[in-house]
Amino acid sequence: MKKLDDIVSLCKRRGFIFQGSDIYGGMAGTWDFGPLGTTLKKNITDAWWKFFVEDRDDMYGIDAAIIMNPRTWEASGHTATFADPLVECKECKSRFRADKIADGINESVTTEEFLATHTKCPVCGKENWGPIRKFNMMFTTHVGAVLPDDDAESAKNNIAYLRPETAQGIFTNYKNVVDAFYPDLPFGLAQQGKAFRNEISPRDFILRDRECSQMEIEYFIRPDNWEQEFEKMRALSHEFLERVIGLDPAQIHELEVPAADRAHYSKRTIDFMFDYPNGEEELMGLAYRTDFDLNNIARESGKSMEYRDKVTNETFVPHVIEPSIGVERLILAVLASAYTEDEIDGNKRIVLKLPETLAPYRFCVSPLLKNKPELVSKAKEVYQSLKTKYGNVTWDDSGNIGKRYRKQDEIGTPKCIVIDFDTLEDNTVTIRDRDTAKQIRVDIAKL
Ligand code: GAP
Repeated sequence: MKKLDDIVSLCKRRGFIFQGSDIYGGMAGTWDFGPLGTTLKKNITDAWWKFFVEDRDDMYGIDAAIIMNPRTWEASGHTATFADPLVECKECKSRFRADKIADGINESVTTEEFLATHTKCPVCGKENWGPIRKFNMMFTTHVGAVLPDDDAESAKNNIAYLRPETAQGIFTNYKNVVDAFYPDLPFGLAQQGKAFRNEISPRDFILRDRECSQMEIEYFIRPDNWEQEFEKMRALSHEFLERVIGLDPAQIHELEVPAADRAHYSKRTIDFMFDYPNGEEELMGLAYRTDFDLNNIARESGKSMEYRDKVTNETFVPHVIEPSIGVERLILAVLASAYTEDEIDGNKRIVLKLPETLAPYRFCVSPLLKNKPELVSKAKEVYQSLKTKYGNVTWDDSGNIGKRYRKQDEIGTPKCIVIDFDTLEDNTVTIRDRDTAKQIRVDIAKL
């Protein structure tokens, strides 16, 4: 049974992921990626970008600002509705997201409905609750020279928000892209970047964060064929998660989100749930956002969001299909899938069976003995040539060879190459496979 604690511990020990601001006692809901985590994250985001953007003719990239004009969030509905049901225990003053501590209720739960569940406080065990209050999850900040003693009105006039989804940076650039490129419909705008949510209860390592990264596409379509486009994006999403990222299809479950639970902008949503170590949770969402966002922007900005069909000259506001995935949730799914404890030659080991394309290092090169200059110099030669060819190659001459294998297993390096005395004679090296621990001899020229 894979435990989340074991994954958290490996991530810290081996330099994948650390608690944000660890040195000052941490900052809840924030995480810092160490050297190996940064590479893993980049391999995953690059794989997404290649699959959804580079390999297609109908996708365009966007990299929009995080701080946007606050009218964005008025128009999108986030100022009014991007809120979670907050409930406070009157005994111990702990605050919770009501729908996360009681069964059978959703985000729109009322105080009466919540009280009827007779939920006990997860901290003190009492049942003495205050009313449900709506808590807007957008982080606020002030833009420009605002001082703490400025009057409330002028401070309010300078309020801005850290974006809670990357999507609005795409929608607000739809017109710019159409004016600059006039792409054929359907076309998509893709963006990767940070999103911020003041989650009431960040939890489960990197699953629910206050600062996270999203990869989102707004795919602009003709309104009349949204169902076919939705199905295409649904199939593509499975292909990405399963073939490109290598997740086990048996661990991915589709959840048709009922109307009452859907985001305010969606006419249909399928959540792709994943079997995480602590249970099934949302990994990504696929939503049919209709023309909700473009119409809101047209109303708020007074600018037309209509698209002119290149053949018929007909004008209409495109509809949108949106696949949206959290990078941290995908990383956790990848780590949880890869984390394995097994036994090799009677010795217990931890091994991260990452797909070769995602592993931080593809090869580790070592001299059998660190104190034999002829082995070290030959090993350096092999290391340099592989590094030039593949880039993500590491060097390790620490400890003994067994310890090096253990370390490389834990960080998921698929192949370890060892230069020994035979190498000096016949130009062959040992390649050890991470998953089977089997070793073969290969000619250096064939690496
Ligand atoms: N633009 C649509 C949107 O933002 P969402 O369902 O709120 O929809 C999309 O978020 C994805 O972003 C989720 O499926 C999840 O992977 C990720 N996500 C959302 N909130 C998150 C959080 N607090 N921490 C980590 N990932 C989160």
